[in-house]
Amino acid sequence: MVSLEIETDSPDSTRHAGWLLAKHLAPGDCIPLSGEMGSGKTCLVQGIAAGLGVPSRYPVTSPSFTIVNRYPGKHMIYHVDLYRLNSKHDIEDLELPEILSEDGIVLIEWPELTIDSLPETSLYVHLSWDMISEFRRRIRFTDTASRFSVFFQELSHAFPRY
Ligand SMILES: Nc1ncnc2c1ncn2[C@@H]1O[C@H](COP(=O)(O)OP(=O)(O)O)[C@@H](O)[C@H]1O
Ligand SMILES: [Mg+2]
Repeated sequence: MVSLEIETDSPDSTRHAGWLLAKHLAPGDCIPLSGEMGSGKTCLVQGIAAGLGVPSRYPVTSPSFTIVNRYPGKHMIYHVDLYRLNSKHDIEDLELPEILSEDGIVLIEWPELTIDSLPETSLYVHLSWDMISEFRRRIRFTDTASRFSVFFQELSHAFPRY
């Protein structure tokens, strides 16, 4: 298990990290994105969607009221936001198993309640605020199955260690 933490200093640089990640994703990947409100989860998803060629007529926003947004690109993206989920009980009402069985890429904001029911997860992402500046965020990527070493190399070149 290898982790890499970067710092971004603007929404665009967070999007760029997502854009770099996109080409390393394969159908069936499920990526939990944790981090408090405003830490940049949706912003990272915007970069991933751009990297997978999602047309601009599909706006990538937090799907809080629909639970799942779908964006077509090189692979289908299922953008899930479980912020409003109150209990494990509610999870049963979700179409999550169906979504996970599709051959797409599943990106889950607020994944905490479902973390036990997710399939094998090979990349975890955690975002947090860095209090030094309003525009600075820390993003930690954890590669559990050694699949993302090339991505990690690209990321460390694009975001030199602070
Ligand atoms: N470095 C940064 N990375 C991402 N977002 C940033 C950054 N700096 C400022 N922001 C702002 O923080 C907010 C992040 O919102 P969003 O991506 O919706 O967060 P979340 O989905 O985690 O709640 C946006 O308003 C964005 O403009
Ligand atoms: Mg969000």
